[in-house]
Amino acid sequence: MLDMLRPYWYPVAPLGALGDGPTRLKLLGEQLVLWKGPEGRPVAMKDLCIHRGAALSGGTIENGEIKCPYHGWKYSASGACTHIPALPPGAPIPAKARAITYPTRAAYGMVWICLGDGSTPFPDFLSDYEDEAIWRQVYVDHYDWKTSAGRVVENAMDFSHFNFVHMGYTELADGPIIKPYEVERNERGFTYAYDDGHLLREYVVEFPFIVHDRKRVTNPAGGKTWSDSGEGSSGDVTLLSFFATPVDENETRIHVMVTRNHSLDRADSEFTGGFGVVMGQDQVIVETQRPEQIPMDVSEELHIRLPDQHAILYRRMLRELNLPAAYMP
Ligand code: FES
Ligand SMILES: [Fe+2]
Repeated sequence: MLDMLRPYWYPVAPLGALGDGPTRLKLLGEQLVLWKGPEGRPVAMKDLCIHRGAALSGGTIENGEIKCPYHGWKYSASGACTHIPALPPGAPIPAKARAITYPTRAAYGMVWICLGDGSTPFPDFLSDYEDEAIWRQVYVDHYDWKTSAGRVVENAMDFSHFNFVHMGYTELADGPIIKPYEVERNERGFTYAYDDGHLLREYVVEFPFIVHDRKRVTNPAGGKTWSDSGEGSSGDVTLLSFFATPVDENETRIHVMVTRNHSLDRADSEFTGGFGVVMGQDQVIVETQRPEQIPMDVSEELHIRLPDQHAILYRRMLRELNLPAAYMP
């Protein structure tokens, strides 16, 4: 299953977290080293020196190259070995002496890595929110959950648990009964929207593991949630973005961003401060879900057609990942 996920792009850290030394991280079960290459560009490599298998993340960055801590081999950002200290000057470096590199990008304030060839379309929903005169975009934090990224995504998509898990924070203003709503598939994932009489919640799923929850105030008197601080005006948008990056099969690092078009003079912490509490309320429940991996056979859990229709489509799309290309819609 994890192999099928390698072609996609995943955020692994906020740009500011990239320090002067190498950072060790795990993505889809693979140990990687991330470091700042020439012109500050992020470089991602398998955390393995081709010489004798030492972890490059234990090494140092010197003049835009990474140096292995064991015998001092140096690798450029392209992966080519540029120096083997044990060889006499002028001796050729074997062509096979290379580190395995992966495509990276800096976008939306984060470093992204792809473990494929990088040709999969880059998630682009947030590119409509980059005009700083209108939008304030804030990286909130990351959260580590002991479950699969699929379970995290299903939780982020699911609004029918709000009135049980998040009372006083983000409950549906008109109560727990779910009214009809439409789920629409597109080439990147799918969308759906739900109006609770106070907020219109528009969900945009960028398959496989990104969920945007765009809350637009439609009726300021209709209720309050922590993310609009109770003083919302019609048209205020607070966009919560969840990026569930699979560390391993049952381990997920969730990066969260908040984008808003209102109250730009107020402290960002007013809009991000409640996140840890709400994420914690979800985490204790989601980590109990068994199996940790989403069952691929829809009949294995009891879905209720209306509130769960986004999850039914999501599971169908995950199942399609295992099909040969000819069967893809
Ligand atoms: S193991 Fe890296 S230089 Fe020897
Ligand atoms: Fe939740």
